[in-house]
Amino acid sequence: MIELASLRKTFGDTVALEEIDLSVPAGEIHGIVGRSGAGKSTLIRCLTGLERPSSGTVAIDGTDITDQSGSGLREARRSIGMVFQHVNLLDSRTALHNVAHPLQIAGVSKAERLAKARELLEIVGLGDRADNYPAQLSGGQKQRVGIARALAAEPKVLLCDEPTSALDATTTDQILGLIRSLRDRLGITVLIITHEMSVIREICDSVTLLADGRVAKTGKLAEVISEPGSTLAKDLVPLPPIGLDDKGAAEGSESSTSRLVEVSLAGTSLPTVLTSAQAVGVGADSILAGAVETIEGKQVGRIRFTVASAAASKELITALEAEGIYAEEAA
Ligand SMILES: Nc1ncnc2c1ncn2[C@@H]1O[C@H](COP(=O)(O)OP(=O)(O)O)[C@@H](O)[C@H]1O
Ligand SMILES: [Mg+2]
Repeated sequence: MIELASLRKTFGDTVALEEIDLSVPAGEIHGIVGRSGAGKSTLIRCLTGLERPSSGTVAIDGTDITDQSGSGLREARRSIGMVFQHVNLLDSRTALHNVAHPLQIAGVSKAERLAKARELLEIVGLGDRADNYPAQLSGGQKQRVGIARALAAEPKVLLCDEPTSALDATTTDQILGLIRSLRDRLGITVLIITHEMSVIREICDSVTLLADGRVAKTGKLAEVISEPGSTLAKDLVPLPPIGLDDKGAAEGSESSTSRLVEVSLAGTSLPTVLTSAQAVGVGADSILAGAVETIEGKQVGRIRFTVASAAASKELITALEAEGIYAEEAA
């Protein structure tokens, strides 16, 4: 549904995007993550036709939008709905008329656009709020109106730029649940730009990490998240922070000689790791922290052991590696 090929965008001497190849199949929810300046906004602007790529192609549902101008570009843009962090509703209009607004601009008759807006408000769970003004709605409700408005022209693709960054945790979960149900119900393809790893984990089928304008990593979430030693995998399933005093705590020893060993659960399981560790005298009481999740029926995540010395660390890592388990000393 979304196909980017050899996409490149420069601003003077600044290379914002380089050699971007990305393919998002219809009905998939794809997440884009990356630090500030990585090129996320430029990517989304190229997708909406607001920015013309320096070279390469951007195809939405088989139409190369870099080829289009005038009415062709407007037509292509209609197949894309946009959801932003800040909703920008019209304060003087009710929820119903906000949702109907893009249809009014497109010249749809009053009866038809209001009927469509009513239907969309039902879909986003705000059927009883049609006559409320934005000032009478909570942040999460406003975002729902924004989503309904983005769906008014029946787009094939929903582009969400930091859709939940301004919302609290509970509301975030509700909005993510809504986006997922829209995909399930309408078959819409979703691209989400976010800096929140939890958003990726919760609803994305696949993910791309942008770094310095390039694709640093891309793939199915289950694969990316279980890649041993990968930084993105660590960011996706973070270990709880460790207090300075805790490093040697599980050993009951001074922290000066103790070492931390981080073990990936990718391709293995917690019992297997514990058995291998036990064999070299490292018991479960040496676990300092752990983050374990089950994705598509497999355990992913990491366990951090504390061991008494550099020699013990080396022994543990060697024993685990002999079982095909990825382990490394952590700082
Ligand atoms: N209109 C512009 N003019 C000049 N440089 C730009 C422009 N837009 C973005 N850039 C540069 O392109 C790079 C990527 O920016 P951006 O896409 O905004 O990243 P992100 O959204 O990931 O923070 C940055 O180095 C930024 O300074
Ligand atoms: Mg940006």
